[in-house]
Parts: sequence; structure tokens; C-alpha cells
Amino acid sequence: MSILDDIRGRAAKFQKIICLPEALDERTLHAAEGCAKLGFGPIVLIGDVAKIQAKAKECGVDISKAIIRDPAQDPAFDEILKTLVELRQSKGMTEKKAREALKDEIMYAAMLVKLGQVDGYVSGAAHSTADTLRPALQVIKAAKGVKTVSAFFMMVLPETSPYYSSQNVLFFADSGLVQNPDAAQLADIAIGTARSWQALMGTEPIVAMLSHSTKGSAEHSDVDKVVEALNIAMGIDPNLQIDGELQGDAALIPSIAVKKAPGSKVAGHANVLVFPDLDAGNIAYKLVERLAGATAIGPLISGMAKPVNDLSRGCKAGDIIDAVAVTACQAAAQA
Ligand SMILES: CC(C)(COP(=O)(O)OP(=O)(O)OC[C@H]1O[C@@H](n2cnc3c(N)ncnc32)[C@H](O)[C@@H]1OP(=O)(O)O)[C@@H](O)C(=O)NCCC(=O)NCCS
Repeated sequence: MSILDDIRGRAAKFQKIICLPEALDERTLHAAEGCAKLGFGPIVLIGDVAKIQAKAKECGVDISKAIIRDPAQDPAFDEILKTLVELRQSKGMTEKKAREALKDEIMYAAMLVKLGQVDGYVSGAAHSTADTLRPALQVIKAAKGVKTVSAFFMMVLPETSPYYSSQNVLFFADSGLVQNPDAAQLADIAIGTARSWQALMGTEPIVAMLSHSTKGSAEHSDVDKVVEALNIAMGIDPNLQIDGELQGDAALIPSIAVKKAPGSKVAGHANVLVFPDLDAGNIAYKLVERLAGATAIGPLISGMAKPVNDLSRGCKAGDIIDAVAVTACQAAAQA
């Protein structure tokens, strides 16, 4: 069974309520139907009921199992408005501005998540990453114990990879969100991605803090940043299996690990790779995808207080279903 089939299966078990705010996008409607067929928990669509139903009819999609929340008719609207003003008052939010902000379906979804009326949202089929994530960053915020939300890719290696026999999934972070992280942000990226590993893979995360140096083989302020991040992460979660600074080969290959990082329980066995900055993380995932033929699933978001995930604008309905399944698993792990 593929990892995505496994995640879809667990999503069906968890019955989490996931919001898809881009309700007038045809792929969203197909995904809502698909989620129902797979036995997932309810999908919440946002927008005008008549318009959404007309669009579904036009597309030949059955959305009878989905719940439609129309902000204009929503009995909870006043509570949502009041809470948004309270949350963002210090940033200049007024009732007038909040009414305007809530016309954005993604902000509406973020508020439903914040208020616990849904368990997470998935957006981005028709919006940029920034427009998908900004409302969540503003109102849902980072999880307890971390300040920085980050993005990772689930890299599924092909059977042809020489590495395939030991494990075929690795998480790469941050490959999509945090530019030039400082040591504290890098520590948060490690903690958040490790939690996502636990939520999605169901096994223990083994986290390598990557560098161009292994255990002092090079001296540079870039190396110092990684070591500082390691110490911060160990302070936040003393039980986490994490080590650094490690080069990529020392992190992954046991025969090299024993030479370069003897005694490390992480070296040679890492499944979560934390890159020192966004350039490294983004370049690495694209090279592994293109040169090694790995399947890159993501970007997926770690470190939010409640889960939110982004889509590529070129996504298909199946990709939205997978992102809903991932979000449901993350929600179940946080419950
Ligand atoms: C994350 C991102 C959406 C933030 O959007 P933005 O318009 O720049 O918003 P701001 O920087 O004003 O931040 C908005 C809020 O989110 C918070 N925030 C931003 N990035 C955050 C992060 N990584 N973790 C936690 N909070 C974050 C800010 O603190 C701010 O909170 P506040 O309003 O309560 O003070 C933006 O940086 C982005 O689009 N990143 C994507 C990077 C990229 O291009 N990736 C593509 C492939 S590499």
C-alpha cells in the first residue's frame, strides 16, 4: 500500500471536519465528492449555497454530503466577526475592516478553524501560497512551543533508488516558506516537521540538522547556527531523536555515519532532513525529484496550532483529496 493510500485510510477513520473554502473551483467540488466516497469526515464548503449547488450541477458533481456555510446566512457570523476583531485589534482591526476581511473565504475558513467549528482547511487551487497562508498565520498562529510555521515536502523515493531498501519516505524542511531562518526558527522547523512525521507516518521521527559540516569538520558561522538550532530544539523537546550538524551522507548512510559521526543514534538513520535555509531545502527537493525520480508531495505545512495546507494552482482533484487526508491526520495527532 502506498503512503498516500495509508494516509487516506487513516483520514477515513479519524472523521475530521475539513474546510475547502474555494467552493466555486470545479476541482474542489470533485474533491468534496471524492472525500465523501472515501468515507472521510464532512467537508465544509464556503459561499453562496445557490451558486455552489448550481456549479456542482453544471459539473455533474454530487456534493450532497458536504456542508455549505454561507457567510451571509451564517447564524455564527456575529461571533466570528467579534472574535476576529478581538484577535486582531492590536493590529488595527475594526468591525468595518473585519466585515471586509470576512468576505475572503480563506479568512472565513481560518476563523472556523480558530473557533473549532472545523478541524482544518485546505486551499490554494485558485490562490497563491501567501493568500492561502496569511489568514492562518494571522488568526490560527503557530502551535504551542513553536513560533515559526514552516513547509515540508514528503519525498517518496522510487524503487530504483539505492536508498529504497532502508526506507522510501523522507521529509525535507523547510523547502517552501521560511527564508533565511535564524537558529530559533530552524529549531521550530525541526520540531514542527518532526511532529508532522509522527502524525503522518505514525513512527518515530529521526531528525538530522543538515550542514556542509559534520560534527565540527568545518568552522563557519553557518555551522554555528545549525548547532545552536540543535541545542534549542533539544531544549524544547528533550525526547526528540535529533542530531547535528550532519552532512547529507552522514545523515542517511550508515557506513558513512559510523566514520563521520560515531556514536550518533541519528546519523545514518535520519528520516526528517532539516536544511539550513530555504535555498538549500528548495533546491534539494527539486534535485531529488528530478534526478532521483522521487515523488514530492507538498508543500505541506507544519507548526500551525491547527492544521492548514496549501495546494499548487496546477493541482488536480486527487491532490486536493490527498491534502484533505494529510490535514485530517495532522488534526487527529493534535487532538
Ligand atoms: C508566509 C507568508 C505568506 C507571509 O505573508 P506576508 O504577506 O509577508 O505576511 P507578513 O509577513 O505580514 O505576516 C503576516 C502574519 O503572519 C506571521 N508570520 C509570517 N510568517 C510566519 C511564519 N513562518 N510562522 C509564523 N508566523 C508567521 C507574521 O508574524 C504576521 O503576524 P501578525 O500579523 O500577527 O504580526 C509569506 O512570507 C510567503 O508568501 N512566503 C512564501 C515563500 C515563498 O515564496 N515560497 C514559495 C516557494 S519557495
